Amino acid sequence: MSQLYEISEVAQQNGKNGKPCWLIIKGNVYDVTKFLGEHPGGGEALLEYGGKDATKAFKQAGHSSDAEKDLKNYKIGEINSAAPIQVQPTSNGAAKPAAHTISRRSRTREEELLRFCCC
Ligand code: HEM
Repeated sequence: MSQLYEISEVAQQNGKNGKPCWLIIKGNVYDVTKFLGEHPGGGEALLEYGGKDATKAFKQAGHSSDAEKDLKNYKIGEINSAAPIQVQPTSNGAAKPAAHTISRRSRTREEELLRFCCC
């Protein structure tokens, strides 16, 4: 499974003050630090989006399908977005939320009754 990052974690890796340069493109996280000097569109174009979402800029630059394929060489993970709650079967067959997902507490009987009365 892919490494998950928070947007705030990526934001810190903005390529400034000797920090690595990470970008987000279509929910994936890329470390382009070593690519800065090689990018045909220039290192500055990448640094401008250091720590940020560069999805639109990447699209607007009209990258070729080769550039799209090149992306995978720099991928280090994905954004931990508010993914739908996933359930994993446990050994006893019961469903349990996956470790990294937000689990939702089930309503108490009182809360259910209150909902029923109010709505
Ligand atoms: C990991 C991310 C990126 C990769 C792997 C990548 C790769 C490439 C490649 C291979 C090219 C050569 C032309 C082509 O094949 O399309 C290119 C050109 C270019 N890229 Fe990127 N790119 C990335 C991100 C970006 C971003 C975020 C921008 C933001 C503005 C950008 C702007 C450009 C521009 C303007 C050119 C055209 C350069 C020219 O033809 O003079 N790229 N890129």
